[in-house]
Amino acid sequence: MSATSATVRVGIIGGGLMGREAASALARWFALVDFPVRAELTGVCDLQPALLDWFRQVPTVKHFATNHRDLLAREDIDVIYAAVPHHLHEEIYLDVLRAGKDLFAEKPFGIDLAAARRIRDEARRLGRFVRVSSEFPFLPGVHRAWQLAAGGALGRVLEAKCAFLHSSDLDPLKPINWKRQAKFCGEIGVMGDLGMHVAHVPLRLGWKPAAVYAQLQKIYPERPDGKGGMAACDTWDNATLHCTAPIAGHATPLTLEMKRLAPTETNTWIFEVLGTERGVRFSTKEPKTFWSYRRDKEQWWEKTDLGFGTPFRTITGGIFEPGFPDILQQMWAAFIAERAGLLGDKFGCATPDEAVAHHEIWAAALASHREQRVVPL
Ligand SMILES: NC(=O)c1ccc[n+]([C@@H]2O[C@H](COP(=O)([O-])OP(=O)(O)OC[C@H]3O[C@@H](n4cnc5c(N)ncnc54)[C@H](O)[C@@H]3O)[C@@H](O)[C@H]2O)c1
Repeated sequence: MSATSATVRVGIIGGGLMGREAASALARWFALVDFPVRAELTGVCDLQPALLDWFRQVPTVKHFATNHRDLLAREDIDVIYAAVPHHLHEEIYLDVLRAGKDLFAEKPFGIDLAAARRIRDEARRLGRFVRVSSEFPFLPGVHRAWQLAAGGALGRVLEAKCAFLHSSDLDPLKPINWKRQAKFCGEIGVMGDLGMHVAHVPLRLGWKPAAVYAQLQKIYPERPDGKGGMAACDTWDNATLHCTAPIAGHATPLTLEMKRLAPTETNTWIFEVLGTERGVRFSTKEPKTFWSYRRDKEQWWEKTDLGFGTPFRTITGGIFEPGFPDILQQMWAAFIAERAGLLGDKFGCATPDEAVAHHEIWAAALASHREQRVVPL
């Protein structure tokens, strides 16, 4: 927090889908109960005037910019949240750090592994507080699964799987956007879009793959360009990574799935771990429901409604269901709390080292697919 202000003042670079979600999370900060730090959106930068106009309805926003350096020159901004296309991550993130601001970065934290390492190293050199956006661990069901797995309650882990599945790209007439073009999204394609979400919890548990065999698919080679023609769609759409992760000293199967074309799935995030004593299973298809497995003479899957038991308490009653905007605000609360040294033993946002570790997996996956072999990490 700034020495001159009791409120963390946030600026947003990139006011598209995620920039506006961040504005919404910050605008209802009062939903958090007894939260020790205030946070407020102060400025925004986007290239599109219509998007800047959208932010004019947020009463706390004082600065509107079309060049991110103009926003960074403002002294009354402590933290920048940057949500721009992946080819701009490195330049903009480095500018943020060098302007003396802390950074809440969007994934994948650079277009490739080399960029991620450069951003991580500069943040370290300058001593800036940097975390990376990844909201699913802030769902009560995921939090519970993480606690059980981290506490060793599962016995010997036999296998783990994490998946993030979309289906909107099943429509071949959906116009192309920057996320389907390698020069903007990165060669890693869907792994850059969805990968941080699937690998974050396994990595936080210390389950970093030691080897990966990847199956990558490009499904529709072109899409309408929105101007009457067609444009090349050259990113990986679906990625299935069969990994081996050392878990408590045992080489254990870990499957990471990221798919843009997964029939029947809208935004389904799945985490499942089976151990000799217990198991956990969570899917966003049942957002308040937590499944856990136990065994005595027989084996049982038990289903519990966790309701709105988010890590940071809010005004919302415990019986309700959490959704995407809720966990986004929880993630922001974790960022702001950790920056102030007040996170305690709660789950923290992804670190720059974790973001680099993600990229190491995706780089190995590209090599595995290209050479059709298991690649050690
Ligand atoms: N955490 C999540 O759940 C989640 C979900 C979607 C996207 N993302 C990530 O968020 C980031 C942005 O994705 P999005 O879906 O919001 O994209 P988007 O296309 O909706 O928004 C990007 C915005 O950046 C603006 N922009 C482009 N160049 C700029 C520049 N030089 N200066 C300022 N603004 C500029 C664009 O005008 C656009 O409004 C990506 O890194 C993406 O991977 C995260």
